[in-house]
Amino acid sequence: MKIAAALAFLPFLASSTLVAASPLVSYGQISISQVGDAEPRLIRYSEDSPPKWIKESDKESLIRAGIKFMDITDYTDEIVRVQNWKPFIPARTLYEDEVTPYIGNLSTETMEAFLTKFTSFRNRYYKSSWGGESCRWLLQQLENIAQGSDHVAVKEFQHPWEQFSIVARFEGTNEDLKDELVIVGAHLDSMNMYLPKYGRAPGADDDGSGTTSTVEAFRSLVNNGFRPERPVEFHWYSGEEGGLLGSQAVSRQYQQDGKRVVAMLQNDMTGYVGPSGNPVIGIVTDHVDDKLTDFIKVLVDSYAGIPYTLTKCGYACSDHASWRQIGFPSAFTIESSFEDSNHYIHTSGDTIDKLSFDHMKEFSKIAIGFAVELSHVRSD
Ligand SMILES: *[C@@H]1O[C@H](CO)[C@@H](O)[C@H](O)[C@H]1NC(C)=O
Ligand SMILES: [Zn+2]
Repeated sequence: MKIAAALAFLPFLASSTLVAASPLVSYGQISISQVGDAEPRLIRYSEDSPPKWIKESDKESLIRAGIKFMDITDYTDEIVRVQNWKPFIPARTLYEDEVTPYIGNLSTETMEAFLTKFTSFRNRYYKSSWGGESCRWLLQQLENIAQGSDHVAVKEFQHPWEQFSIVARFEGTNEDLKDELVIVGAHLDSMNMYLPKYGRAPGADDDGSGTTSTVEAFRSLVNNGFRPERPVEFHWYSGEEGGLLGSQAVSRQYQQDGKRVVAMLQNDMTGYVGPSGNPVIGIVTDHVDDKLTDFIKVLVDSYAGIPYTLTKCGYACSDHASWRQIGFPSAFTIESSFEDSNHYIHTSGDTIDKLSFDHMKEFSKIAIGFAVELSHVRSD
């Protein structure tokens, strides 16, 4: 959807003041008071427009209109980008021998079992009890994978809302590089755009698929003894659908703690092959780091079994934007061109039967290549 056209239907974006509280909204048999959802939120929906105060409940109108945004209410201060940080991004792969066994151990059966359970929670909305339950279940799976590997730690990253984010970290063998990170991410929340708190939102593709691709990459790396030179982290963010909330909190905290990110790769929607039936890896080229994105093309050529297509996704399209905003190189891979991507997302129809586990596995391969190749200190 063209953003300019959509904006005309969203009067709260045009007005400079907050709109009045909306009345009771009724969804079939259930009526929900919007009281409590009138809390003002500051959102940014484009690089060139100033941020706007809107009501919490108006965020749902934005999502229904297909407009991506960052909710920056908790970060109204000036954005401070990291200074003097120019990590080396390679232009070729050098570690095929190391990568190949990890890719060889990827299993679509494991992925299917995982996603079947992960989509069985009523929803994974970041402010619902199911959102909490589902991330506690995910945490348990990751802890099971990491059990017995002393150099792998799985941690909760708590937020002021119900659902936490999760960080799984491979400690690097070079202690001097402990604050230089390679990050692979996905978001663990899901959302029914008509009824966020109570509606069914299996979120199989958005972003159960990206979560599956990254969990399976993580599993294979752990099970096959991956020992990176610099630390590699896998992140699963809460509250992406609420405006990149989890990833903003994590990235800001990391920046404050003096951590430096060499490269971050987001996986959001990796399971839907699209109408053409010809599977491709969509590489997003807008609002990303160009050099890192060029390297993703090389990774696809080297490690995936399908070609890539270049596509654009718009402002604040997923959690990589949070890292980019503060000056860290980030990139984004998606299931197809943005136009061909799954139209059932944010509804009860975002289910597993529309997805391909072989397709999700291609993204696990890229994630593994990314983790291994960038974990080495190199200047080629
Ligand atoms: C992955 O490795 C484990 C342990 O070596 C093995 O039991 C399993 O069969 C392998 N799976 C695949 C799909 O290669
Ligand atoms: Zn998503």
